[in-house]
Amino acid sequence: MPREFTTIGVVGLGTMGAGIAEVMARNGISVIGVEVDAAGVDRGRAHLQASVARAVKGGKLTDDEAAALHERITYTTSLEDLAAAELVVEAVPEDLALKLSVFQRLDAVCPPETILATNTSALSVTEISVATARPSRVVGVHFFNPATVMKLAEVVRTVVTDPEVVSDVEALVRRLGKDDVTCGDRAGFIANALLFGYLNHAVSLYEQKYATREDIDTAMKLGCGLPMGPLALLDLIGVDTAYEILDTMYKQSRDRLHAPAPILKQMATAGLLGRKTGHGFYTYESSDSPVVVADAESPDADGGPRHGAEVRTVTRIGVVGSGTMASGIAEVCVKAGYETVLVARASAKVDAAKAAIARSLEKGVQRGKLSEEQRDTALLLLHGTTDLGGLAECDLVIEAVVEDVEVKRALFADFDELAKPGAILATTTSSLPVIECAMATRRPADVVGVHFFNPAPVMKLVEVVRTVKTADDVVATVHAVCRRLGKVAVDCGDRAGFIVNALLFPYLNDAVRMLEAHYATADDIDTAMKRGCGYPMGPFELLDVVGLDVSLAIQRVLYQEFREPGFAPAPLLEHLVTAGYLGRKAGRGFRDHSGR
Ligand code: 3HC
Repeated sequence: MPREFTTIGVVGLGTMGAGIAEVMARNGISVIGVEVDAAGVDRGRAHLQASVARAVKGGKLTDDEAAALHERITYTTSLEDLAAAELVVEAVPEDLALKLSVFQRLDAVCPPETILATNTSALSVTEISVATARPSRVVGVHFFNPATVMKLAEVVRTVVTDPEVVSDVEALVRRLGKDDVTCGDRAGFIANALLFGYLNHAVSLYEQKYATREDIDTAMKLGCGLPMGPLALLDLIGVDTAYEILDTMYKQSRDRLHAPAPILKQMATAGLLGRKTGHGFYTYESSDSPVVVADAESPDADGGPRHGAEVRTVTRIGVVGSGTMASGIAEVCVKAGYETVLVARASAKVDAAKAAIARSLEKGVQRGKLSEEQRDTALLLLHGTTDLGGLAECDLVIEAVVEDVEVKRALFADFDELAKPGAILATTTSSLPVIECAMATRRPADVVGVHFFNPAPVMKLVEVVRTVKTADDVVATVHAVCRRLGKVAVDCGDRAGFIVNALLFPYLNDAVRMLEAHYATADDIDTAMKRGCGYPMGPFELLDVVGLDVSLAIQRVLYQEFREPGFAPAPLLEHLVTAGYLGRKAGRGFRDHSGR
């Protein structure tokens, strides 16, 4: 039988400590909350009260339950008061010297059977444990911010932790209504080790002005279904905390991708710590507020073309190709009322693409998303041909053929001959340089990348890729078209992966490496990312859906472009692809799908 804790101490009532205290008290446990001074107690109490009030307002708690929750918490500035606790969770700032001194004092105050737990995100639990006379009763219990909402805690065992202590803490996590994953003592554990490489990379894109903060965050939310973009998440976590976590991870991994982006240190030094100070990557209404307010970096409020350029008139769109992307894009165009010419290599392909669009529109009618009249109007706007000459009257030509640079270059040379002057020539490539297409024409200023996501009728995001030659009014026009298509356009430069793939695939590759190193199972890694960080799918679920061959190809392109050692495809990914384990489509990838 696992130990039933009735009294738990929480040291440090900052964002995490206050959240942990609330979760414990919510689940019937008496909590002794310790802060360094009276002001700290007041801050912690205020934080907790505000959070509980929100839970009441959101219908998560009744007034009586909230009152009982508050009754279960006592506040103190004296660590000595923890003599009565059966378990103490330390949640002070990520500073090893500070944590060691807290644990030494706790060791002196608490009876020998008391379990001492640290909520550290990246520091060594082993190092902390040996500062006490009871290393076997020291464990890591890592909650996620906001602790009241995120449904995961990682339980970290060291080489000396007593297995009974681990199972007692695992049972406690489950009693708190959270999933538990248990892992060894490695910087970042499971979730942070995967999350922070990605967050740091996003900061680098921002720091290099590759894309704006809004566009980076929007791209990851709409492109990957994440609850928050990376920069907004850093503001929630705290820029100073993120810096410390990355710094610790770097010291252990020596992986350049974990070396904190320089701007993080500058922001931490300047007090731009995120929501807690009211300023971070974004500006907030006040300290601790989630409400973002406009500042000097905010885009124009009118949502109009940010480029200040004239918009070209677009009434007729050409889509070249007949695969899933081409037919999806053509469908989106006709639904938005554009005359659309779909050009494919053979009449059978034209017919197949038109049939696929008709089926998809019909599905829309059945699901109540489209009226029969809208379906009919859309179908009337759709024209199919095998003749590239059909593009002559198009104002915008969108190429969506195979990802082969020679095929695309030849096609763009044809567009150059056929399209009228002033027509915009766009490629949907996800991994080739757009400038290659541009330079196959005599009008490179009219060439732009428009990267739609699959399935195009559903996914809201379009990455608009400008080359060093793309004209401002071309970008402005593509933005206007995207708005009419009901899409959200983000801007980025012409380099491998654009925003979404550049941030997503190295994270997936890191997850494969973690699995390969036998640090955690695919199930635990998927659970950690879904429950700890609110991801809609874990990395292995997603890899199996996207296809391991597709993922490997993208990862190879990223590696070739950036020559970043950390981007080299994980050997396990290469081996699975070689073995034909390509994911769902092959019946087997990281998991066996044959029986489903
Ligand atoms: N108790 C119980 N429930 C509460 C609550 C409380 N005190 N306070 C809020 N809630 C509920 C709300 O009622 C709401 O419930 P509902 O969805 O059923 O209506 C839900 O929590 C979300 O509340 P918000 O209004 O704040 O809503 P958002 O939809 O804006 O979500 C978010 C905010 C939960 C932060 C979401 O954006 C998210 O999941 N973001 C990702 C967070 C993440 O990745 N965290 C991990 C960071 S890494 C980390 O912490 C490790 C560390 O070591 C750094």
